[in-house]
Amino acid sequence: MKGIEITVKHRSEGSSYKIDIRDSLLETVGAWALERIGVRPKKVVVISNPTVFSLYGESVVSSLKSVKSEVSVWLMKDGERYKDLSSLDAALQHLSENRLSRDDIIVALGGGVVGDLAGFAAAIYLRGMRFLQVPTTLLAMIDSSVGGKTGINTAFGKNLIGAFHRPAGVLIDPHVLRTLPRRELTAGFCEAVKHGALSGFSLFNTTAEYLARKNASEGQESLEKLIAGQVAFKASIVRQDETETTTRNDARSRKILNFGHTFGHALEKVTNYRRLRHGEAVGYGILVAGEISKNLDLLSTNQLNLLYDVVHRAGTLPRISDIEAAAIFEAFKFDKKISGGNLNWILLNGIGNPVVVPENDIPRSAIKRAVEKILIS
Ligand code: NAD
Ligand code: GLY
Repeated sequence: MKGIEITVKHRSEGSSYKIDIRDSLLETVGAWALERIGVRPKKVVVISNPTVFSLYGESVVSSLKSVKSEVSVWLMKDGERYKDLSSLDAALQHLSENRLSRDDIIVALGGGVVGDLAGFAAAIYLRGMRFLQVPTTLLAMIDSSVGGKTGINTAFGKNLIGAFHRPAGVLIDPHVLRTLPRRELTAGFCEAVKHGALSGFSLFNTTAEYLARKNASEGQESLEKLIAGQVAFKASIVRQDETETTTRNDARSRKILNFGHTFGHALEKVTNYRRLRHGEAVGYGILVAGEISKNLDLLSTNQLNLLYDVVHRAGTLPRISDIEAAAIFEAFKFDKKISGGNLNWILLNGIGNPVVVPENDIPRSAIKRAVEKILIS
């Protein structure tokens, strides 16, 4: 199989799964699934949504049928608000009605919403069955499809119910990003900037250079390489801290992937999850975390400016200048409650050197100045 192959081998045990990255791989998803699963599954359920399925569903179903699997399709409604218990219930009902057994397979075809819900259904149906991730957004390719976090939202907050359940394989076909709306790409690029800032100058510069050239005639090959670098970084974190150990606070703990998320979550909450895509909110969150790091003399002005440059290159972010700092601080309180009273900030002690800092160790004025600066920018 040509293209780029990355193996996620977990430190704690022998099991592993492969992530294959190649243009047009989607057209041969049936043969790929056979290779990743090892045997021909009798039944395959494709979980997707109407937007993605109308673009790629037919070719996916026909490729899966070509390897003689019996294929059925269940579509959830498109949108974050449908990543909930009632969609999960409907998905589980489809699996039961179609008498899926533990030897059968679920294929999650879509962005992070589809991947999280389908993965969770796979984690709990018959106490766990195998599933394959076929991410179709940039965010899902470089982030949510890798690492085994699955779950749904509740009325109390995002991703509050879920399970760690590894996929049996991940198929990344960068070609499908051609149909992805501009804002969704920007959101994915913000997450790419996050990984670059956490990883070090190598991935940071690769990402910055890709973003600087992307409006010119940037080839698919360099997009494939960018995605591969991003996936390799995420894999390097999750393989040695898969379950985000609560007591780990080191520079390679899974917790660091929440860089940009403290402010990002607050921004999403005060705008009722309607104004910003999650990745866009993280884009602003990266800048707030950078500003706080600078206020604490952890990050130089020069490196902070690099962060600004690369976030701006990711794309235009929605305006937030009408939002009051007080509303953001109220939202922090909510995040704090959910996290058991310990709100941690992920800051940068220089590019590539994340540090986990409890909120109580940061002067409120350092956070306030950073929040106010970004809100009025
Ligand atoms: P999404 O799944 O809502 O997809 C964004 C939009 O793009 C949707 O309207 C979708 O239908 C459309 N779309 C998808 N692929 C397309 C394509 N190729 N062409 C055209 N349209 C396409 O959003 P997302 O940003 O992919 O994922 C966000 C979700 O991921 C959130 O629920 C978040 O909690 C979750 N997430 C999970 C993890 C994890 O580790 N499990 C990590 C990060 C984010
Ligand atoms: N996106 C954060 C994580 O996978 O842990």
